[in-house]
Amino acid sequence: MTIRAVVRGVGHYLPERVVPNSWFEDKVDTSDDWIRARTGIEQRHFAARDETTSTMATAAARSALEDAGLDLADLDAIIVATSTPDLTFPSVATMVQAGLGMRHGFAFDVQAVCAGFVFALAQANALMVSGQATRVMVIGAETFSRILDMDDRATCVLFGDGAGAVVLEAVDGAGTSADRGVLAVDLNSDGQFREMLYVDGGVSTTGTAGKLRMQGNPLFRQAVVKLAQTADAALTKAGLGPDDLDWLVPHQANIRIIEGTAKKMGLSMDKVVLTVQDHGNTSAASIPLALSVAKKNGQLKPGDLVVIEAIGGGLAWGAVVLRW
Ligand code: UT7
Repeated sequence: MTIRAVVRGVGHYLPERVVPNSWFEDKVDTSDDWIRARTGIEQRHFAARDETTSTMATAAARSALEDAGLDLADLDAIIVATSTPDLTFPSVATMVQAGLGMRHGFAFDVQAVCAGFVFALAQANALMVSGQATRVMVIGAETFSRILDMDDRATCVLFGDGAGAVVLEAVDGAGTSADRGVLAVDLNSDGQFREMLYVDGGVSTTGTAGKLRMQGNPLFRQAVVKLAQTADAALTKAGLGPDDLDWLVPHQANIRIIEGTAKKMGLSMDKVVLTVQDHGNTSAASIPLALSVAKKNGQLKPGDLVVIEAIGGGLAWGAVVLRW
């Protein structure tokens, strides 16, 4: 018997404020045409002043719990992937725990920037497979609007805010790739690429939150290669290949990165879930947001074979193969 971490519910939260590309046109030297053509982004959501990463994460968690048909008492743990926490500490996850009114179990954050949800899902899977938890809420939530340099046209147009959540449940599987749940994980990082994507402030350096800095083009080239590699590695570990896939749910950074990765994997774009046009890059929130949207619009069905993959600051990158 093999324990499998099966997705039992999924949900998301997006701030009410929608910011179209045109909003940036009188702030920096850019255009709706450039942003659409170079990134695929049409709009993004920005959090209101009184919204934080934890309030959005809590809303997404409630929606995932409802979708799962479970009560708070059923949860053993909460993991939040974020790089934009409300405070330096405590963790956003404990704030979500309090926001939900949960007094038992444990909660902690994972920080792997845009790959955060992949890393958090891998941690949840490990906790479940090792018998330390039976039901785990995994959330990706970000308020990147708060760390954007609104004078830097190369980055300010790319990111958005939001939160997505999944509830995982430990289920006995047969140990084959026909099982539902997480089938394989591939995680990677290489700190030598630090300058490609970072925030220029922090607690033990400047004492400020800092602003996001990115070398977009070199990162773009790393992303396509590394994302295709990690997706293939995870599929190989599961004893499967790209032909077995029903859906690729990639990190939603740039439509051209997504197309490049799909091409390298030999996948048709019909099998790719796309939300980048509506959400922009929401970092760790982008994959759970895409999973939630894809379930709601009927794309994801029980039994479908799904690969999620992401890359972000660090660099950190990885993929998870799961049967929905
Ligand atoms: O989530 C973590 C992972 N994130 C990523 O993987 C992001 C990776 N990078 C990218 O998505 C792309 O590199 C960008 C969308 C950031 C940029 O696209 P690009 O095709 O790589 O453009 P580029 O950086 O090579 O810039 C091309 C031109 C430059 O002008 P010159 O030097 O050719 O005169 C830029 O200054 O486009 C210019 N540019 C802009 N023009 C209008 C850069 N940003 C803008 C803008 N509006 N917002």
